[in-house]
Formats: sequence, structure tokens, C-alpha cells
Amino acid sequence: SLVDEWSGRHEKETTLKRLLGIEEVHIVAGNSDDSEQAQLLLADEAAKWIFANLKPRMITAVTGGTTIAKIADHLPQSSKIEQLQFVAARGGIGKDVQLQANTIAALFAEKLNGSYKTLYIPDRLSESAYEAMTQEPFVQEMMALYEQMSILVHGIGDATEMARRRSSSSEELKLLKEQQAVSEAFGYYFNARGEVVHRIRTIGVQLEQLEQTPHIVAVAGGAQKAHALDSYFQQAPKQTVLITDEGAADQLIKVH
Ligand code: F6P
Repeated sequence: SLVDEWSGRHEKETTLKRLLGIEEVHIVAGNSDDSEQAQLLLADEAAKWIFANLKPRMITAVTGGTTIAKIADHLPQSSKIEQLQFVAARGGIGKDVQLQANTIAALFAEKLNGSYKTLYIPDRLSESAYEAMTQEPFVQEMMALYEQMSILVHGIGDATEMARRRSSSSEELKLLKEQQAVSEAFGYYFNARGEVVHRIRTIGVQLEQLEQTPHIVAVAGGAQKAHALDSYFQQAPKQTVLITDEGAADQLIKVH
């Protein structure tokens, strides 16, 4: 829009595309850290992108978190696109149901008249439980859906903040510190060079599967996330569409 042009946001989008080496960047006005309006704009922009790009029978995987949780509200109630499927990008259970991938997948499906598959399993599994789980038919069904996903919608968080939110053990916190984890996305922790330094042992989307995923939509705003974004985008898939706000974008251009 004209407003975007006057504010210089288009220019910043072009700058970020080049700096991060990705296909598409959308910047909304404001800073999500302290503006509810910016959070709404972010959710709205993401919802618009998703609705414009969905095609019949597509499988979409979604992660949890406060940012992704807000998107469903902004999707239109529509049955225009047939047989859409939504899946949680990772298993989950327990507290903060509203922010869980399972809940968000169901909300997306409700809005778009699609179906959904959930994965109610602990966020953290022992090695033997993990091995056993991967043999379960319902888990294998889920993994097959990840192989076929057309869109992954995910949040990005600050590593320390995410570890705190997940009440990680002191050993895990120590490991993340030693490994200098900066960002987190879909259960993986990354260092400043964008290398994976830790992974939550649970059933979910595998990093390798992103290569073959046609559309990846990363939604994250707020200046406080600049370092996390800088870390994650060191090695993020080229086909990623970043939907962010001016607060994060300005800071990201500075620190990159
Ligand atoms: O826990 C799910 C998740 O998507 C994380 O992978 C990510 O780091 C975080 O949420 C982002 O949360 P928020 O949008 O609340 O900042």
C-alpha cells in the first residue's frame, strides 16, 4: 500500500530478503513487544498469506506459541478450499492448551472447513519411550503427513526464553548455555551461526523435512527477537517467507 511505501517498509523488506537470503519478507507496522496493534497486524498478515496460498487437499503443519495462536482469529470462515488438512508440527500435552500446536491446528481447520490431526504426547520423551513411540501406528501416520506437508507455519523464539517457558531441567539449561543457543524453532535450538545445538526429543517435524516443504512461513515480531531471528535465518530454508514487524526488522538489520 501507499502507507507501506511512505514508511519505507518496502525498502526494508527488500533489504531483509537480501540479507537473509530468503524469498519473501513482509513487515507490518509497529513493535509487537509493546503493541497489541502490531501483534494483530502480524497475525492478520500471516492469515492473509496462508489463505492466499492454500490449495485443495494441502497439508499444513503448525507450531504453538503466542504468535501462531493469534493467526486463526484472522483467517476467514470459509469452505472455498476443499479438503484441507492441519496437523500439529510437534506433540504436546498439559499446560497452556491455548498455545499448543494441537489446539491451533484444530482452530485453523474449523475456520477453513478442513480436518485436523493432533498428537497428544509429552513434550519430552526418554530415549526408550521415543523409540517405542516411533513404532506406534498413530505416530507413523503423523510422520507420513509431515513428509507430505505443503506449508509449515512456525514461530521463532529466544532460546533462553523458550527453555524457561518449558521449565527445562538444569542440565538442559546448562547444555544450552554451553552450546550458546540463541534461537528456537519447532523444537530445535540454534546457535549464532544457525547450527542445531540441541533438540527436544519428541515426535514432530524433522529439520530435514523442511528442504522438501514448498512453503515455510515463519511468523515472529518484536525487537527482542532480533538476535533469535538473526540466528535462525543464518541457515533457514530459502523458501521461507518471513512475516515480521518493524520493531524486529529494524533491530535485525542493525545486528545482522
Ligand atoms: O513452543 C512453540 C513455539 O513455536 C516455539 O517453537 C517458538 O520458539 C515459540 O513457540 C515462539 O513463541 P511466541 O510466538 O510466543 O514468541
